[in-house]
Amino acid sequence: MDYLGYKNKRVLVSGCFSGMGEATARQLVALGAEVHGFDYKETALDLASFTQVDLRDPAAIDAAVAGIGGKVDALFNCAGLPQTSAPMDVMKVNYAAMRRVTEQVLPLMSTGGAIACISSTAGMGWSRKIPLLMELVGKDSFESAMQWCEANAETVNEGYTLSKEAIIVWTMLTAAHLIKRGIRLNCTLPGPTQTPMMNHFESKTQAAVLNAFIQPIDRRSTPEEQAAALIFLNSDKSSYINGVALPVDGGFLGGVATGQVDLSALMPAS
Ligand SMILES: NC(=O)c1ccc[n+]([C@@H]2O[C@H](COP(=O)([O-])OP(=O)(O)OC[C@H]3O[C@@H](n4cnc5c(N)ncnc54)[C@H](O)[C@@H]3O)[C@@H](O)[C@H]2O)c1
Repeated sequence: MDYLGYKNKRVLVSGCFSGMGEATARQLVALGAEVHGFDYKETALDLASFTQVDLRDPAAIDAAVAGIGGKVDALFNCAGLPQTSAPMDVMKVNYAAMRRVTEQVLPLMSTGGAIACISSTAGMGWSRKIPLLMELVGKDSFESAMQWCEANAETVNEGYTLSKEAIIVWTMLTAAHLIKRGIRLNCTLPGPTQTPMMNHFESKTQAAVLNAFIQPIDRRSTPEEQAAALIFLNSDKSSYINGVALPVDGGFLGGVATGQVDLSALMPAS
């Protein structure tokens, strides 16, 4: 039974070393896909190919994608850095590199191709910042996006929130163009997920704030639960799902919209 249609599909997973990317690559192998992986840390998975690439370097990205060559059916942009890293590194990996990988892979995709990216519930404030975010996503290269970030360092702040908001706006905007070529683009908004990145969040964020984000389900996600959403979005079964920022958050954003979750821990103390 190949319900999701991944058998013999040629797919690329960036960030395949750990967490959601590792779970995604592992499950895609189990589904019979030909899985190619990118990361700066070597994977233990048995993939069709693995390329060690530092996504902070656009030339390295170009070389890595050229090394894959051939046809790519689906791209999973799973690499990311937390707010414990330098803000410009966070913007590079989470946003500029995600775009660069996508733009390099697009010529290898044809009708039916699909791309899934990972934003975060941390990006939930995107709609209040559209003019600013349109300025950033309007920069059409890795280099010009990073020049904008350097010139707006105060706005970039710790980098994580802005990078996640930018993924959402870029996904919605770009999906409207790519669908004309028969290629779909979506992103997920995971809630707190038990991956190696969680240690970094815990070191920077109060437990009460992190716990506010697991309402109303009252537990963290597993990386496999996040991988399942990405794999569904990039499958042929999602053929009418495009330009979506899909919360995979146990009901958090729905609860926020309807006043069912208590956000007091997220408010600055007065
Ligand atoms: N864990 C959470 O609670 C959570 C919640 C919402 C969103 N996210 C997002 O999910 C995505 C996956 O994160 P995760 O939780 O699986 O964490 P993770 O740290 O396990 O995975 C991140 C992956 O990115 C790779 N990576 C980082 N910098 C790189 C670089 N310069 N070059 C190449 N590879 C690089 C890492 O080696 C790792 O394999 C990230 O975008 C993260 O922001 C995580």
